[in-house]
Amino acid sequence: MDIAGHAALVTGGGSGMGAETARHLARAGARVAVLDVNRDGAAEVAAETGGVAFHCDVADAASGEAAVAAAREAHGPARVLVNCAGVGAPGRIVSRTGPLPLEDYVRVININLVGTFNLMRLAAADMAGLDPVNDSGERGVIVNTASVAAYDGQVRSSTTTVRPSLPPGPSVSSGAFRILRSPCAM
Ligand SMILES: NC(=O)c1ccc[n+]([C@@H]2O[C@H](COP(=O)([O-])OP(=O)(O)OC[C@H]3O[C@@H](n4cnc5c(N)ncnc54)[C@H](O)[C@@H]3O)[C@@H](O)[C@H]2O)c1
Repeated sequence: MDIAGHAALVTGGGSGMGAETARHLARAGARVAVLDVNRDGAAEVAAETGGVAFHCDVADAASGEAAVAAAREAHGPARVLVNCAGVGAPGRIVSRTGPLPLEDYVRVININLVGTFNLMRLAAADMAGLDPVNDSGERGVIVNTASVAAYDGQVRSSTTTVRPSLPPGPSVSSGAFRILRSPCAM
């Protein structure tokens, strides 16, 4: 899909892979909304890319809905979503101090997995209401980032296998998801 002129959402856009993704999309001509819990980082990247920034906790339904609505208000419904929001591995399953606190594991699952799904569902709902952009019926594209560590476990990475269990990249087409099996390297 040619993304020039289309609205794009980047979660975790206030830092790291998300920030670089926002810059890349802006250079390609997209109107970028940077969504992040880090307000300052998001605002900085938005200023740099000529985009907009909105506070968004991807793990929270209401926060995600509000951020997507604000981005829609600013740029129209997005045809591109790139999920980069995430936090690192919480630690070894058992360390010298005992078992990993369950809340540490749950936090990572909620942000990296549930948060990714949350924004997918919200962005896909908007995309499904748009007209196709080409003869193949494409309405938009969603890219979920994940770690290669999912395929090669690492010490202290007790949650890393989780996010890749989501489809790597659904493309919203004719009201249904088409799963792209190619790896997403960002
Ligand atoms: N950079 C790498 O080489 C690499 C490799 C493997 C995995 N990862 C994973 O990919 C993810 C992003 O990596 P990065 O290097 O860009 O990290 P980063 O810390 O630079 O950026 C992550 C961004 O996500 C935001 N964020 C955290 N929780 C959020 C939430 N609940 N809602 C919205 N935004 C939230 C942070 O504020 C931050 O701006 C992380 O989960 C990281 O563990 C990164």
